[in-house]
Amino acid sequence: MICDNILDTVGRTPLVRLGRLSMGNGSEVLVKLEGANPGGSVKDRAALSMITAAERSGQLKPGGTIIESTSGNLGKALAFIGAAKGYRVILVTDPKAAGSMLDFVAAFGTEVHVVRTPDELGYQRPRLAKVAELLEQNPGAFWPDQYNNPGNPGIHAEQTAYELLDELPAFDALVCAVGTGGHISGLAATLKHKLPDITVVGADVVGSAAFGFPYKGWEMRGLGIAWTPGNLHQHLVDLVHPITDPEGFATTRLLARQEGLLVGESTGAAVFSALAYANAHPGSTIVAVSPDSGANYLGESFDDIWLTERGVLQGIEAQGLDSLDGLLAGARSPRNDFIQLDRVQPQLV
Ligand SMILES: Cc1ncc(COP(=O)(O)O)c(C=O)c1O
Repeated sequence: MICDNILDTVGRTPLVRLGRLSMGNGSEVLVKLEGANPGGSVKDRAALSMITAAERSGQLKPGGTIIESTSGNLGKALAFIGAAKGYRVILVTDPKAAGSMLDFVAAFGTEVHVVRTPDELGYQRPRLAKVAELLEQNPGAFWPDQYNNPGNPGIHAEQTAYELLDELPAFDALVCAVGTGGHISGLAATLKHKLPDITVVGADVVGSAAFGFPYKGWEMRGLGIAWTPGNLHQHLVDLVHPITDPEGFATTRLLARQEGLLVGESTGAAVFSALAYANAHPGSTIVAVSPDSGANYLGESFDDIWLTERGVLQGIEAQGLDSLDGLLAGARSPRNDFIQLDRVQPQLV
């Protein structure tokens, strides 16, 4: 494959069937590996889509500046796309961002501001306040606003969903980890049209307020949010599955050791949810989206000391999730009830 530039390599990611992580009831789980994108995540598609739309509308001029709040992956995407297209990129992040991501963006000459003081809901709102300040200081700069920009879900409706349908013309359920809501909303919009019986499951992290639960905080990176973002189109999500930190991290580690798949912890959350759904639906075919590569988190999700300092490894061991059999038993547990979205009682945060 000869490409004119690196941007042409975004998309067309592989779909991999899980072997050992299986409920053994005739169901199958396939994982769409968005970590195979050049920036290592699902955000490459969203970033390219939002930048292209801003160029078309004139919001982003040649040699212009892009400013965005990100905990990592959107920043990585903006960093390499900005370098390839000749834009200045300024990112606002917080101390939870993986060190490897900061090193990645630095390689492309990206400027980074780290917000160190959280408010009662964490870092996301202070990060956005810093973005507003930087936008004032840089008149004419473009703020993609991944939480509300329709180009974020839009690219998944137009591109990612059709890649899936090309590979797998029919399947029963789609499971996505939810952050901005971009990929679940975009994929669901097209897939619900093409496969009217499909069930769309949002794998949320316990402590996230995305679907209206009270915000409590969590350790996994990539998924979860302190409010309900504009790009989360809840009417397209059938079931919500709250995943605990031990479930998500344990699945991530077993995906590496049992399947040879190095993926991030939001993938662990999505796959754990997919296994629980598979358990309840013998014979079903389920697609779980893997938003990024585990290369982002080698010093964290895969590091026993890091996990122990946060109490996660203790939780994994206490719940017996550190072996394949234990994890599959966890996916069979009655705790793993899916919540029908119309039964979620939104709460103001
Ligand atoms: C690793 C990871 N997982 C999950 C998500 C959530 O994806 P979305 O924002 O499309 O809901 C993100 C978003 O940045 C991510 O980086």
